Amino acid sequence: MAVKALVDPGPHYREGAAELLLGDGFFRRDSRLARDCSVLLAWHQASTTTCKYPLQWLDLMAGCGIRGLRWGLEAAGAQSMPPEIVVNDADGDRWPLLEHNLKPLAGATCSSIPAETLLCQAQLEGRRFDLIDLDAFGHPGALIQPALQVLAPDGILVLASTDGRSPTGHDRPGAIRSFGAAARAHPASWELALRQQLGLLARQAWLLGRGLQPLMSFSDGRTFRLAVRLKRLLQPDEEATLGLLARCGTCGAQQSQPLLRLRNWSVCHCPPEQGRWAISGPLWLGPLQQVDLLEELMASPVPVASATRRLLQRLQADPGGLGHVWATAELARRCGSGPPPLQQLVDALCTQGYQAWPSGVMAGQVRTDADLPELLQICSNLRGEGPLIGP
Ligand SMILES: C[S@@+](CC[C@H](N)C(=O)[O-])C[C@H]1O[C@@H](n2cnc3c(N)ncnc32)[C@H](O)[C@@H]1O
Ligand SMILES: [Zn+2]
Repeated sequence: MAVKALVDPGPHYREGAAELLLGDGFFRRDSRLARDCSVLLAWHQASTTTCKYPLQWLDLMAGCGIRGLRWGLEAAGAQSMPPEIVVNDADGDRWPLLEHNLKPLAGATCSSIPAETLLCQAQLEGRRFDLIDLDAFGHPGALIQPALQVLAPDGILVLASTDGRSPTGHDRPGAIRSFGAAARAHPASWELALRQQLGLLARQAWLLGRGLQPLMSFSDGRTFRLAVRLKRLLQPDEEATLGLLARCGTCGAQQSQPLLRLRNWSVCHCPPEQGRWAISGPLWLGPLQQVDLLEELMASPVPVASATRRLLQRLQADPGGLGHVWATAELARRCGSGPPPLQQLVDALCTQGYQAWPSGVMAGQVRTDADLPELLQICSNLRGEGPLIGP
């Protein structure tokens, strides 16, 4: 391959333990949270795995190579045997930059080939990766199956998608094409987008006879980010995590059902014939986060940004095991009052025997198993007013 010289190196950029050149290609400083999480997961894998061979880590769409470099500097030391790191970006103009930036890592390999080709080659060579970071533009759908095929059992996939329109119900034909699922607008739209993506990942993993365990799921509304573990086998009843989520567009009631035990929907709280269920799915109904892992990440020595620490705290406080989430603004509108203070609402729900958490995915939302009338009653009690149940 013809190697271009690094013409204008530009200023150095520092993040974590890395100091590198950004070049003139795509780079977002505010994706630091996602990079921190990727490094934390690499560190966790390195510090908890006992193996006879070096761990294999693949930064598939590396940009300037910052993730691979940070893995090497901040996470690799947790293993006695240094992991082998492959850093790839299809843009050939990035090659000199990658080579330059990755110099501090003795064991790193840089490549400049399309992700599809790299994954295909790995499959042909029987190569397996323990960690793959797939930081794509748009929807990474077509790369999911080839990536899972070269992910080792119990390996970790870190995945990004910038397709927010189709999984949030704003491009319904797009959701059918990309997810094989119905997607309807919902106040907890970021969460539904993450659940659509997880539903797709689960089906792709199950096709291989593997199980899926979400480790962390979050979004800023622009990029939808997941980290999952590909389990060697499915957990008992894992298929019940795939299902449908319904919301009445009139009264706001929510229901969900696993596909495995699908029945008729029960009536909502509208007057007869006025309810309209908008149904999304199949999507993931199981937990969004692995809470004990997040606790371990919070104790890690990896130098992460304070915003990342806050993100971890938020996610760790909300396992995301229930898909019923309400915006307090919607509850306020239905109660005809100001929004109830979120933590007070959560505390009141728990006192009444319901499960409740502030959503870790979207601010100002409550996750609870309380049904809508009880939820509105508790909101109204907090505001000292009577509830307004109905359309
Ligand atoms: C979102 S950027 C990566 C940013 C980087 N991970 C970071 O944290 O700064 C996506 C990168 O993927 C590369 N890319 C796009 N399509 C690709 C493909 N099919 N195979 C490999 N790389 C690709 C682009 O050149 C771009 O640098
Ligand atoms: Zn209704």
